[in-house]
Amino acid sequence: MENTGINTKFRFDHNRKVRNFMCGIIGYTGNKQVKDIVLDALTLLEYRGYDSAGMAVSVPEKPTKIIKCAGRVTDLRKLCESNEIEGTCGIGHTRWATHGGVSDENAHPHKSGKITVIHNGIIENYSELTRKYDLQDKLRSQTDTEVVAAVLAHHFTGDPFMAIVKTVSEIKGTFSLGILFEDNPDTIYAVRNVSPIVAAFCDTGALLASDVTALCKYTKEYFVLPELHVAELKPHKITVYDLNGKEVAPEYITMDWDVTQSEKNGYPFFMEKEIMEQPEAIRKTIMPRIRNNLPSFEADGIPDSLFTESKRICVVACGTAMHSGLVGKSLIQSMINIHVDVVLASEFMYTNPVIDEDTLVIAVSQSGETIDTLEALKFARKKGAKRLAIVNVKGSTITRECEQVIYTYAGPEIAVASTKAYTTQLAAFYLIACRMAYLKGTFDEEKAESFMRELQKVPAMMEKVLDRRDIIHKIARKLVNARDLFMIGRGLDYSTLLEGSLKLKEVSYIHSEAYASGELKHGTIALITEETPVIALVTQACIVLKEVSNIREVQARGARVFLLIKEEYASSVTDKFEESFTLPDMEDDFMVMPASVALQLIAYYVSLDKGLDVDKPRNLAKVVTVE
Ligand code: F6R
Repeated sequence: MENTGINTKFRFDHNRKVRNFMCGIIGYTGNKQVKDIVLDALTLLEYRGYDSAGMAVSVPEKPTKIIKCAGRVTDLRKLCESNEIEGTCGIGHTRWATHGGVSDENAHPHKSGKITVIHNGIIENYSELTRKYDLQDKLRSQTDTEVVAAVLAHHFTGDPFMAIVKTVSEIKGTFSLGILFEDNPDTIYAVRNVSPIVAAFCDTGALLASDVTALCKYTKEYFVLPELHVAELKPHKITVYDLNGKEVAPEYITMDWDVTQSEKNGYPFFMEKEIMEQPEAIRKTIMPRIRNNLPSFEADGIPDSLFTESKRICVVACGTAMHSGLVGKSLIQSMINIHVDVVLASEFMYTNPVIDEDTLVIAVSQSGETIDTLEALKFARKKGAKRLAIVNVKGSTITRECEQVIYTYAGPEIAVASTKAYTTQLAAFYLIACRMAYLKGTFDEEKAESFMRELQKVPAMMEKVLDRRDIIHKIARKLVNARDLFMIGRGLDYSTLLEGSLKLKEVSYIHSEAYASGELKHGTIALITEETPVIALVTQACIVLKEVSNIREVQARGARVFLLIKEEYASSVTDKFEESFTLPDMEDDFMVMPASVALQLIAYYVSLDKGLDVDKPRNLAKVVTVE
C-alpha cells in the first residue's frame, strides 16, 4: 500500500473526553451464506443492549442489499425470511440509539452511493460535515453514521483504502466502522478509534466483530484491531494497515472461552446459569495463582514490586465492579494497613483525586470497555500512577491502558446483571490482599497459607448455598410485590448488600436501598413501615449484637425482616423473623462469597417470579461505553 501522505495525526487528541455507544458489530466474508452467520452473531451480541438490528450483504455486480428494522434480532430474522438474501460477504449491526430516535430508517447499515457502513461510536463533527458536503437534503436518517457513509462516498474514486484514510482524517469522535464497497464484493473494511473491533479467521472465512462473544462460536484466535488502523478482510486473507498504508502484523490472542459457555445449556436464563457457574469460575480464577500454597501472580507477569512499592491504592470502577472494590478495600486495609480509596470511575475526575507515582490504581471491569473506567485510567496515567486491571475480557481496551492485568476467568458473562464476574473480581482481591500482606510482612507464611486454604473453600461454600436455593426462592416469593425494600448490615456486610441491592433493583425493578444499619436512625428509618421488607445480613462476629439491635428497631416500625445469617451466629439470635437463611460457615472475611450468592438468587427469583426478562432488564446495556 502506498504512503497516503495524508496527515491524520492532528485530528486525534487521545486524551480528550470521549463518548461512544454500545452497538454490536459483525462482519463475515467466506464461503458460507453470510445471512445465517450474521443473524447468529447478532443474537450472541444481543446482551449488549440494543433497539434495532440490520444487515447488508454484498451481491456481485448488483447494489448491496440492506435489510434493517427497529426491534429485535428476531424481527430482523423474520424480515430476512421474507426477503431473498444470498451472498457470502456482509455486515450486521445491533443499534443502541443515541443519535436519532429508534426507527427503521435510523437502524444501521447506512448506504451512500456504493458504500455501506455500520458504526459503533459518535461522530462529534457530523453537522460540520453535513454542511461542508451539502448533505442536508440528501440524508435519509438522523444518524451521524449516514454522514460518514456520505463522506466516504465523496472521497471514493476507486481506492477503498484512500477513501477511508481521507474520511478518517476528517471525522472527529469515537468510531468503529465496518464498511462494504460495492466494487469489492468479497471484501470488508474496518477502521476504529477508541470503540473496539476484533477480527479473526474461522474455518470458512474471515470475521470481524465489536466483541469476542460474537466470535467464540467460530474461532479461538483473534486480534484487536489497533486504533487508527484499517483492516481489509477477504475470505482467505486479513491485512492490517496503518493510515500511511504500511502493513502491520496483527497480534493474535487466544481466547479461553468456548461456545457452550455462551449458551444457556438448559437454563431458562443466563443469569441463573451464571450464578450456578460461580464455584467453577472461582476455582479457575484462584487455582492457577496458587504456588506452594501461597498466592502468586508470576504467571500473570506481575512483579512483586507493584505491591511492595505502592504507598496508596485507588480502585476505580463502576457499578458491580466498584462494589468488588469496596470489599477489596476492607480486606487490604485490615490485612496490610495501607490506605485504599474506592472511587466511582464516573466521579473520579470531579473529586480531584490525590494520586501520584506512589499510587497503585486498580481498575476493575468485566467488559474491559467501560468508558468511565477507561477515562479514569487515562487520568491516572498522566499523573504517573501505576495501573493494574482486574478484567474478564482478554485484550479489551482497559487491559491495554494498564501496565499489568489480572484476568478473572469467569468466561463469557451474557446476562446484563453481573454475577460470576463480580465474585471472580472478589477472588482477585483476596489474592491481591494476601500477596501484599505476605510481601509486606503483615502475614507470615503460616497465616498466608491458612488464608489461601480458606479461599479454596469458597467454591464448596457457594455450592452449599446453591444446593439450598429452593429456600431462597421461598424468600423471593414473599418479596415479589414489594415496591420499596431495604437491606441493612454493617462493615463487610454493608458492602455485600450494596451489590445485593443493585442486583435486586436492576433485575426486579423493586426500589431497593442498601443501608449501613447504624445510619438508619439518622433519617432513613422514617421510611420503614409494614410495607417495606428489610433484608438483614449478619456474618461478622464484631457486629452481631449491634446488628440485632438495629433489626429490632426496624421490626418495631412494622418491617418484615428476612434474615441472612452465618450459621455460627444463628443460635445467638433468637428473635422471630419473616424468613431466615443460614449461610455456611467460613471465616468472617470470606462470608461475602456465600452471602453474595444468596443475594443474587433472591434478585433472580424475584425477577423470574415477576415474569420479567431477567437477562435483559429495561434500559440497561451490558457494555457501557457512554459517559
Ligand atoms: C450490574 C452491572 C454493572 C457493571 C458496570 C461496570 O449488574 O453489571 O453495574 O458492573 O456497568 O461494567 P464493567 O464491569 O464491564 O466495567
